[in-house]
Amino acid sequence: MEERVLTKQLTRDFDVESVRNDFPILDREVNGKPLCYLDNAATTQKPGVVIDSLNYYYTNDNANIHRGLHFLSEAATAAYENARMKAKEFINAISASEIIFVRGATEGINLLASSLCRAGTFSEGDEIIISHMEHHANIVPWQLMCERNGAKLSVIPIDDNGDLIMEEFDKMLNERVKLVSVVHTSNSLGTVNPVKEIIEKAHSYDIPVLVDAAQAVQHDKIDVQELDCDFLVFSGHKMYAPTGIGVLYGKANLLEDLPPYQGGGDMIRTVTFEKSTYDGIPNKFEAGTPNIAGGIGLGVAIKYLRSFDMHEIKKYEHELLVYGTEKLQEIDGLRLVGTAKNKTAVLSFVMDDIHPYDIGTILDTEGVAIRTGHHCTQPIMQRYNLPATARASIGIYNNHDDIDRLVAGLKKVKEMFI
Ligand code: ALA
Repeated sequence: MEERVLTKQLTRDFDVESVRNDFPILDREVNGKPLCYLDNAATTQKPGVVIDSLNYYYTNDNANIHRGLHFLSEAATAAYENARMKAKEFINAISASEIIFVRGATEGINLLASSLCRAGTFSEGDEIIISHMEHHANIVPWQLMCERNGAKLSVIPIDDNGDLIMEEFDKMLNERVKLVSVVHTSNSLGTVNPVKEIIEKAHSYDIPVLVDAAQAVQHDKIDVQELDCDFLVFSGHKMYAPTGIGVLYGKANLLEDLPPYQGGGDMIRTVTFEKSTYDGIPNKFEAGTPNIAGGIGLGVAIKYLRSFDMHEIKKYEHELLVYGTEKLQEIDGLRLVGTAKNKTAVLSFVMDDIHPYDIGTILDTEGVAIRTGHHCTQPIMQRYNLPATARASIGIYNNHDDIDRLVAGLKKVKEMFI
C-alpha cells in the first residue's frame, strides 16, 4: 500500500526545494502571504505521502486489527504491524515487540510511570532524577506517581546557556535513585543533552534511563542500542506523521516484567470473572482498538524520513540554525534564550519591552507562524525569570527565505513598538 503512495527512490539527495514540494500545505496563504511555518516543535506539517496513506487506508483497508480472519482485517493488521517494524528499524530496536504504540510521548511516559508504580519500583524516599529543562510531560506524570508512593523528584540544574550542569548530576546519583528520565533535546531551548554520558553514569549505579526523544528523532539518527537507553518515547506528529500516535520503546526484558497500563480487549490471553491473564509484549500494553490509521501514517512518515540520510537532514537544519542565530543576533534588543554548545532547530528569544504574544501576533499578520508562551516548560521560564518566550522552530522544509521573513517580521515588530 505504501509503495503505491510513496513513489520516491529509497535514498534521495537532500534538496530543500524538492522537500517543500512534498508538503501540500506549504502552498497555502495565511493572511494574504505565503505560509512561513516555523512552529515545528509544536507540530510538523505532513507530507502528501502521509496524507495519502490515511486516505488510502480508509478507502481500501479499513477494518479492526488482530481480531478478524477476513481479508480487510488481515490487510489492516499487516499494515499496522508493518508500521511497528518500521518504527523498530527507525530507532534500531532489537525486536518489534519492544515498540509499544501510544498516543504520543506524553502517553508513553504516563504508561511507564503507571506501570513502574504498580510494579512497586518506588518506595517512600526513593528518587527519580529529571532535569530542569523537561517538558511538563516528563514532570507531571512522575509527580502524580510520587503522590502515590512517597518517592521524590531530584532535578539536574541548568546553567545560563541552557546546558545541564553535569557535575551536579554526578552528585545526585545514589542507591535511592530508581530512574533517570531526561529529555534528549529541549523543545524550549534546543539544547541537545549528553544522553549517552547520562545513561552510562546512571547504569554504573544500575539505574534505568528513560529518554524523551520527542524533539530528537526528526532531527538526528537515534539508535537505542547505541545509546543503551532502557526506555525511549517519541511522538509521531512532531516527525511528519499524524497526531495521536507515538512510540514507547523499552528493552524487552524490562517491558516483560512490567504490569499492564490499561485493561481491555487485545491485551489479554484469558479472561474469567475471577482472574485475567495478559498477552505478551507489545499487546499487553495496547488495550482497545488503537489508532490504526495513525500507526500506518507513522510508518509512512518514517519511510519518508528514512528516504534521506538523517545526517544530511541534521547538517542542513544546523546550517539553518546557525544562519538564523546570526540574523537574530543582529536585531537590537533581541536576546536569545538557549545558547547551549550543542543545540538544534530551536530559536527562542525575547525582545526588550515587547511581550512575546505581541511578537507572535504581528508575525502572524505577515504569514509567519511561531509559538509564544511557556512551551509546556514553566520551570524553564522560572529559571530565566521570564513569563514567556517567542520560539521559532525549524523543520525539514524550512529554508533561508523563511528565516529572512522571520527577521523582516521582527523588524516590523520593532518599528511598531518604537
Ligand atoms: N510540546 C510542544 C511544544 O513545544 C507542544 O510546542
